[in-house]
Amino acid sequence: MSGFQFEQSPWTCDGVLLDDIVREVGTPTYVYSGALVRARVRALDSALGDHPHAVHYALKANSTLALVRLLRDAGCRADANAMGEIDVALRAGFSPAEIVFTGVGKTSDELERAVALGVGTINAESAGELRRIDAMAHRLGRRARVAVRVNPDVDARSHPHISTGLRANKFGVAFEDIRPLCRWIMERERLDLGALHVHIGSQIATLEPVRRAAGAVSDLAVALRAEGIGLDTLDVGGGLGISYDGSPVPTLEAYAHALVDIVKPTGLTLVVEPGRSLVGPAGALLARVVDVKPRGHDRWCVVADAGMTELLRPALYGAFHRIVADVPDAGSPVVCDIVGPVCESSDTLGADRRLPLPEVGALLAVLDTGAYGSAMASNYNRRPMPAEVLVDGNWRVVRRRQTVDDMLACEA
Ligand code: LLP
Repeated sequence: MSGFQFEQSPWTCDGVLLDDIVREVGTPTYVYSGALVRARVRALDSALGDHPHAVHYALKANSTLALVRLLRDAGCRADANAMGEIDVALRAGFSPAEIVFTGVGKTSDELERAVALGVGTINAESAGELRRIDAMAHRLGRRARVAVRVNPDVDARSHPHISTGLRANKFGVAFEDIRPLCRWIMERERLDLGALHVHIGSQIATLEPVRRAAGAVSDLAVALRAEGIGLDTLDVGGGLGISYDGSPVPTLEAYAHALVDIVKPTGLTLVVEPGRSLVGPAGALLARVVDVKPRGHDRWCVVADAGMTELLRPALYGAFHRIVADVPDAGSPVVCDIVGPVCESSDTLGADRRLPLPEVGALLAVLDTGAYGSAMASNYNRRPMPAEVLVDGNWRVVRRRQTVDDMLACEA
């Protein structure tokens, strides 16, 4: 059995009782289904079929070491956005060649380390960055394999905070500048141009923008080939959305088939760099109710021991996550705002939810929080980072709850 079962008490993850986990570990705690992560990687990989491809897991979605290891064992490579993510990937067992370094603001120190390590590809975001990589490769006596990130001016039609493919966004190189830039790279003795890269945003709910972006870089690659500039790979980024509220999103299979259809005629290797679609549905945040109070005569405020410090997405993007309450004799539902303990009104996990009114001590689960949950958690209000548990056969704590000493370890 893979994934979570919240339909009836007792709740389970891959057949393991969630009560057993929280009894030992406490709340708030993230729980992940190893079986579901593996199943999603398998589904994507097999849908990409026999066209040459690689799945680069975007560590930013969740870089908890044990999960990164699991994704590596499942056959993924790594997409890292900062030196910290490269280090986590290395510790998770990836070789430098299996790591791609992306990111709009790579520092000179980061670039130098990436060139010295010999990471698989550096996805460059500008002509200036490419000049810095070239200079470093000379200084270190190394070669560097690079890709150019194309800004295709395609609207991902996702939340504006996480759309990255429009000309006005800070990402990538403008379409019309790509060809001269590629010619410049070809003249550099120490740079190997391997790929074009595009990533137009995250939580994309329709295939049309994905097709347009992949089509744009495919056409560009064909045009470059006609000029004698041969690439071996098209990296079409991540971004496939998941269904947080039950509304339909493309399946991993439909997404893969759409991409293969477009890239296949180029004969180039297809790289995807998914984060959310692999791990998002495989995580749940477990919390307990710490207070319940009326708000007017027809509404309740349910205060949980988790909030924006553990899960920032609702406060930052107004994101919706389903929330369920473990209420044994479920009464008729009432309207609840489920809020966290942080001193901000934005600290609301879910507003206007219809739930059977939970009592203090009841368990809550915030669903689909495997991606951009723990990775975006903070110590605001000096709240400790939550515990994380991986269910993979048995269950184990893969990140213990932070202590005050942990929190103060870097301070004088
Ligand atoms: N590749 C690049 C270059 C990216 O910038 C990202 C995500 C990905 C891949 C993975 O995208 P995914 O498959 O996970 O959509 N914090 C936001 C999401 C930010 C995504 C940033 N970039 C959220 O909680 O919705």
